[in-house]
Amino acid sequence: MNAALPRVVVLGSGAGSNFEALAEQAGGHYEIVAVGSDKADAPILDRARRHAIPVFSITPFDYPEHTARDAALARAIAGARPDWVALAGYMRLLGAETLAAAPGRILNVHPALLPAFPGLDTYRRVLAAGAREHGSTVHFVTAELDSGPPILQARLGIAANETVESLEARVKTMEHRIYPQALAWCAAGRVAMRDGVTWLDGKRLTKPIIVEETDE
Ligand code: GAR
Repeated sequence: MNAALPRVVVLGSGAGSNFEALAEQAGGHYEIVAVGSDKADAPILDRARRHAIPVFSITPFDYPEHTARDAALARAIAGARPDWVALAGYMRLLGAETLAAAPGRILNVHPALLPAFPGLDTYRRVLAAGAREHGSTVHFVTAELDSGPPILQARLGIAANETVESLEARVKTMEHRIYPQALAWCAAGRVAMRDGVTWLDGKRLTKPIIVEETDE
């Protein structure tokens, strides 16, 4: 434990590969102090335990009522005293109390070139639409789904023989680069959300910083 590092709570519902990338690339930038899920048996929690990071779960089974669940999640997050909250495959909308637990300091990664393709099932929808490119966006979380101001965006061209599986694998590889980068910038105080937009090094971003698959 290093008391001087910005404290991060990660929330996820699934496999946790983005959590793993955030944990592996944390060194010296931030410390992940807790991992939470809406599923008691989510693999992301097992990954966190292997890193000796405390876990919590706030599930619809324990809290069927949305407002009570929102309050419990807000309490669990606040108890970890985070500077930042990183959603890593957390598949639920945050309620007002949870948003207020770290106001303006909640990040998400969404597998699409936002504002295109918010919501679920992006790979299938992108391929069905005949899109030529796809990617993922790290953005600030606001009350609306997948729509807060963007920070970093990974872009890749869609191959002629692309499948949902191949596209997901390529996008996730990119997410594992851009999400730790964006969080490190936030932790260093280089990135912030003000007046509903992203600022990087004191300059207002009119569009996200783009990372191509071919960039090193
Ligand atoms: C990630 O690809 C992330 O972009 C997506 O869930 C996946 C979680 O994978 N998030 C969303 O769709 C949010 N709208 P992981 O559990 O292996 O990190």
